[in-house]
Amino acid sequence: MGEPLLRFPAESEIPENARVDTSKWAGRYLLGGEVRTWSGPTADVLSPVCLRDAAGSLKAAVVGKLAQLDGATSLEALSAAKAAWDGGAGPWATARVARRIGALEDFVSKMGAVREDVVRLLMWEIGKTRKDAESEFDRTVVYVRDTVEALKELDRTSSRFVLEQGFLGMVRRSPLGVVLCMGPFNYPLNETYTTLIPALVMGNSVVSKLPKLGALCHLPLLEALASCFPPGVVNVIAGDGPETVGPIMQSGDVDVLAFIGTSRVVNILKKQHPRPNRLRSITGLEAKNPAVVLPCADLDVAVRECVSGALSFNGQRCTGIKLVFVHESLADAFVDRFAAAVDALRAGMPWEAGAMLTPLPEPGKPAYLRSLVDDAVAHGAQIIGKGGGALETFFRPAVVYPITPSAKLWDTEQFGPVVPVAVYRDEAEIGAFMRTSAYGQQVALFGRDPRRVAGLIDALANQVARINLNSQCRRGPDTFPFTGRKDSAEGTLSVSDALRAFSIRTVVAASTSEENKELVSEIASRRLSTFLSTDFLF
Ligand code: G3H
Repeated sequence: MGEPLLRFPAESEIPENARVDTSKWAGRYLLGGEVRTWSGPTADVLSPVCLRDAAGSLKAAVVGKLAQLDGATSLEALSAAKAAWDGGAGPWATARVARRIGALEDFVSKMGAVREDVVRLLMWEIGKTRKDAESEFDRTVVYVRDTVEALKELDRTSSRFVLEQGFLGMVRRSPLGVVLCMGPFNYPLNETYTTLIPALVMGNSVVSKLPKLGALCHLPLLEALASCFPPGVVNVIAGDGPETVGPIMQSGDVDVLAFIGTSRVVNILKKQHPRPNRLRSITGLEAKNPAVVLPCADLDVAVRECVSGALSFNGQRCTGIKLVFVHESLADAFVDRFAAAVDALRAGMPWEAGAMLTPLPEPGKPAYLRSLVDDAVAHGAQIIGKGGGALETFFRPAVVYPITPSAKLWDTEQFGPVVPVAVYRDEAEIGAFMRTSAYGQQVALFGRDPRRVAGLIDALANQVARINLNSQCRRGPDTFPFTGRKDSAEGTLSVSDALRAFSIRTVVAASTSEENKELVSEIASRRLSTFLSTDFLF
């Protein structure tokens, strides 16, 4: 018998710096400003990390207990958010920008205290390596700090009067109301907070429903949320999706749905809203981002970036490279080098230094990935290299080549460690692929010939929302707009765009009569109105 694909540890082999006692957060949720413990049913959270017993059998480790709230309690959370909003008259909705920024600064200063807990939970719950888990946490902290600066800037630039066609006007951004935030399992902290934080700081009230996988990592932050924001402004619930979210959407009281996940689920949620015209949706959904290796590509760069782009966090990134098109002139050379680089990647437990490949959190995922690989093989592809094997929750990355349009991997988002490689002859084939794709998030182009690269940029600029040159697809820097076309996204997120997404412009306008000028200048100079003033002149 050869080496196992991955050596899962015995309980005694777990290092001290990876252990986490979750009993203090068991069944926790946040409602109406109070961190509560759910007395109803809870669900065991199973880790993708399996533990080996003395007989050598493998069993998923149980990481903690998650509240399974019922519909009535979810509606209580919605009522708390509605009461805090109070038809737009609530103290948070009407607070000065400085007050909201103060709360956010207070919150971010408290985040640091639970960094290590969150990092360990990310390792156990979703199999994220320590390095990636730390970077997810730190990036989120930077995002919150950058949001503070962006809001100050927004407040500065919008707090002045403009004179237009005989009218005096001030245009400011106002909150929208009650926001339902739902994040994904792969970046459970970061992607949830990139909607939750801007929604809050713009003055909305929020119900955040935790994802099924990657929920525990939120629990250490509940106390800080409760202490920094007024009661009801932020509520965090957990449980079965249809049971908890269904009644919330059906109430018609959600003004904004911020959802990162699949188009299938978001379409169900939107249809539940009785007045969809009142619902603003901000979504990040599926993608099938191709990499294109042109004949003029630097193969070292293309191989390095495609390995990282396709397999960082085991390919579980919405921005991941999900299909590689290689020009026929270098397809065999690329595939040999690419497969060798993939075979050299180290597998291990999330806490092991140097491990890049780790177990997968989604139940049944290895079997699903294998079915995609088998389908590709049935349609003429081969597995190149040593990948494709599975052990419990682990799947060794498979490079599958050549992929043709008849294989499912041509247009299905695998969201895992399978890298389909296709051969192309003419760049027009890439444009045709994107035009017929259900998705339109990003593309990565590898090439050095300016004319050829420019041609593809122009062919794809109306098909995707970001074109990466000689580098993998990615979301960051977070100040860049992050969005997609077709089934990939609605609305745009970035530090500053998100502030706009969770607000609406309101204008105070007056004709420029002497009386009006006097009235407005009295209000502004005596700071009689929160709306017609600024706290951030400098
Ligand atoms: O899954 C989607 C994430 O937002 C991707 O972020 O490109 O920085 O890994 P990233």
